[in-house]
Amino acid sequence: MTESVDPHQELIERAAAILAESHYCIALTGAGISAESGIPTFRGKDGLWTKHGEPPLNQYEQFSADPAEWWQNVAERRRHPDELTATIATAQPNDAHYAMAELERIGVIKHIITQNVDGLHRAAGTGSLTEIHGCSTLLRCISCNTRSPFDEIPELFPPRCDQCGGIVKTDTVMFGEPIPPDCLQRCYEESSKADCVILVGTTAVVSPAADFAFAIGQRGHPMIEVNLDPTIISRYCAVAIHDKAGELMSRITAEVKDILDEPPA
Ligand code: APR
Repeated sequence: MTESVDPHQELIERAAAILAESHYCIALTGAGISAESGIPTFRGKDGLWTKHGEPPLNQYEQFSADPAEWWQNVAERRRHPDELTATIATAQPNDAHYAMAELERIGVIKHIITQNVDGLHRAAGTGSLTEIHGCSTLLRCISCNTRSPFDEIPELFPPRCDQCGGIVKTDTVMFGEPIPPDCLQRCYEESSKADCVILVGTTAVVSPAADFAFAIGQRGHPMIEVNLDPTIISRYCAVAIHDKAGELMSRITAEVKDILDEPPA
């Protein structure tokens, strides 16, 4: 009887060896890492953009033209959340988020740049994190960048910043909106220090998020891809494993801990 050969085992061992040898590994995650938490992705056959088309590229321009009007719409959507908003609000971290938090705990992953606004890396315990596209549970002043919890609908439209009186919007970065400078700065700093990058659940087609990962590869350091489907960067990766992140990240983390002689969780 032939043993069933696990198609990923050899790749998992190679990925784990690279992670264990790295001195400063960072991660770039995308919608795919939250797919097993029930949150839809954007591209691919069931993606939100695939189904409904991408939002207008001038979303931020529309907001800037009439922030009060924009907040009316936000309040209405908040009162009657659509399915996606309700899903994000109740979603929980999955095995992949927890595995990456564990890799941070044992000192292997030094920083995560996530494109997701769902807050699930925070909820899973990751501490060193840049939410480059913002976080859906926060508000942000567009003048001084001060962030605050988005707990209830503001009384005034648009709300004003307690620190500087500037206009406050949701922290989630809109199409056409500049990435907050503090996020860009941190991503640049972390990417500049990295000698390894692992990309989890992302098509890696959106700048500048993907550029920070590519810059590490372009300096000759290994890129590892963990993604359900092959992407445009698969061929440039030292290891590219194509299956669900929950199982793969759990197995990679267990393998890394084995190599580093870390006790199992
Ligand atoms: N495990 C691992 N990968 C998965 C899973 C899963 N369970 N399910 C889906 N994927 C992969 C898909 O194969 C796809 O390549 O996740 C990837 C998700 O890609 P996108 O939907 O393009 O999401 P993302 O890369 O995060 O998009 C980047 O685009 O529109 C912007 O702001 C939006 O932050 C988003 C950015």
